[in-house]
Amino acid sequence: MPTLATTVDGLSLPNPFVIGSGPPGTNLSVINRAFREGWGAVIAKTISLDASKVVNVTPRYAKLHSKDGKEVIGWENIELISDRPFEIWMDEFRRCKDTNPKGVLIASIMEEYRKDAWVEIVERCEAAGVDAFELNFSCPHGLPERKMGAAMGQDPGILEEVCGWVMGAAKRPVWAKMTPNVTHIEDPSRAALKAGCHGLSAINTIRSVMGINLDTLRPEPSVEGWTTPGGYSSRAVKPIALRMVMEIATMIRKEFPGRSLSGLGGIESGSDAAQFILLGCDTVQVCTGVMKSGYECVKPMCDELLAFMGKHKFETPAQFKGRSLDYFTTHADLVRRQSERKAAQKAAARKVVASDGEWSGDEFVKQSDALSRE
Ligand SMILES: Cc1cc2nc3c(=O)[nH]c(=O)nc-3n(C[C@H](O)[C@H](O)[C@H](O)COP(=O)(O)O)c2cc1C
Repeated sequence: MPTLATTVDGLSLPNPFVIGSGPPGTNLSVINRAFREGWGAVIAKTISLDASKVVNVTPRYAKLHSKDGKEVIGWENIELISDRPFEIWMDEFRRCKDTNPKGVLIASIMEEYRKDAWVEIVERCEAAGVDAFELNFSCPHGLPERKMGAAMGQDPGILEEVCGWVMGAAKRPVWAKMTPNVTHIEDPSRAALKAGCHGLSAINTIRSVMGINLDTLRPEPSVEGWTTPGGYSSRAVKPIALRMVMEIATMIRKEFPGRSLSGLGGIESGSDAAQFILLGCDTVQVCTGVMKSGYECVKPMCDELLAFMGKHKFETPAQFKGRSLDYFTTHADLVRRQSERKAAQKAAARKVVASDGEWSGDEFVKQSDALSRE
């Protein structure tokens, strides 16, 4: 019988589906709900030591709909990290572990560029019982002004230093969450792994401007008539997330074998999850998908992933992790492979012509090309 049970960095998950940091993990009540619905793990909304510095605005979401208006394909947010007091979070983490002793609870943390702050947040979260950490180096709006989030994640030198502070203090597994708002995502990823992080998560949201209201001429989401670039998520970002996951997984395979990868960005189904695992992920996270479809979407996702595994006779996700990575190469190599295949086909056609004289070589190539396109 195939199983979705997954072990990653010593954490035992009933399935690889993890709640991604954001509104679906914004307080104890919704985190408990996620565990009840069967999520493999929950990453809580990002927290910091001093929530009084975090001031959210409304509206903070803007959506891109399909042409018929029925479906959300892209989602922009200008939401910050949690504005709930740190002490309340510590109490909720403790109560969460009391209620769900086997549930894997991951704290998402973010701090300023100060060693004492990072050490304190790690130690206090561990004392509250969290099972692991995700370091948020990737929020694209609001926090970079305080040199937090993506501002750190875009600078491999600072990232390596901060990850080193965390690794010096943490006794539980640590994943660093990468920003996609860089040219080469391998560079900050490598820095985090060099500092000793157990794994990486990718991607956070993509810096974006959702659109302009053509009646008011104001950009959206409009806060008192003004806006600021936000973070883009949901189905529309999946191809970009897959590309970045592929680049990170290729780097991990070559330079840091054994380190883990948690993939996210537009995952809404078991088939989406299968694709991220085929590109090297150990686990997959869902954030906007839960906001769109509710916590119960984990059940059909598990069923679809199991059906995919059944079709290919895979017993565990680990058996197909990274399988599709082997099929990426350079464009020059694609040209070489195609010319070789055509030359081989031509040679085969010439043999046919020589034996029964029916087709010219070029005609045979045309015919077989047409067949292979069908
Ligand atoms: C409204 C909203 C709030 C978010 N807040 C956080 C956050 O606090 N910390 C974090 O690491 N990522 C946050 N994210 C990013 C998501 O965790 C995720 O990286 C991104 O949205 C892509 O995945 P998705 O398409 O499944 O949402 C947020 C995303 C959204 C849409």
